[in-house]
Amino acid sequence: MTVNSFAAVSLDPALVLWSIQNTSECFEEFTECERYGISILKSSQQVLSDRYARSLAHEMDVADRIVDGAGVPLVKDALATLSCRLTALHPGGDHHIIVGEVDALTHSEGEPLVFFSGGYQRLA
Ligand SMILES: Cc1cc2nc3c(=O)[nH]c(=O)nc-3n(C[C@H](O)[C@H](O)[C@H](O)COP(=O)(O)O)c2cc1C
Repeated sequence: MTVNSFAAVSLDPALVLWSIQNTSECFEEFTECERYGISILKSSQQVLSDRYARSLAHEMDVADRIVDGAGVPLVKDALATLSCRLTALHPGGDHHIIVGEVDALTHSEGEPLVFFSGGYQRLA
């Protein structure tokens, strides 16, 4: 699913967070799993952001993904990927905060896809 609530938490251990709506179709998928992947999209990948933000359409197309050695699905050709182990869940209003420890990281050259003020933007 498409999210923009991602943030870094800790360097040692490497922890990151994001938050998921309590009503999301994907809620159990991400709160009851052992591992999950985060992929930071390139500016050229807006179509994927739109696609995986659609309700009831979160199943990843095989053509859009790779699966890493831990069995974690990640977006193919993403700007960066983080293969995470779920370590903590915190209720936060109508969302839950999901904290994960980063087991593996990839990154490449390019511009990130930026969502700001209700739309996709380019870095100046
Ligand atoms: C740019 C963008 C950022 C989003 N960020 C989040 C987020 O941080 N957390 C979340 O639960 N949903 C977020 N969403 C909404 C989900 O991608 C998705 O639209 C929603 O979960 C659809 O409902 P469903 O999960 O019940 O199918 C975001 C959507 C967009 C377009």
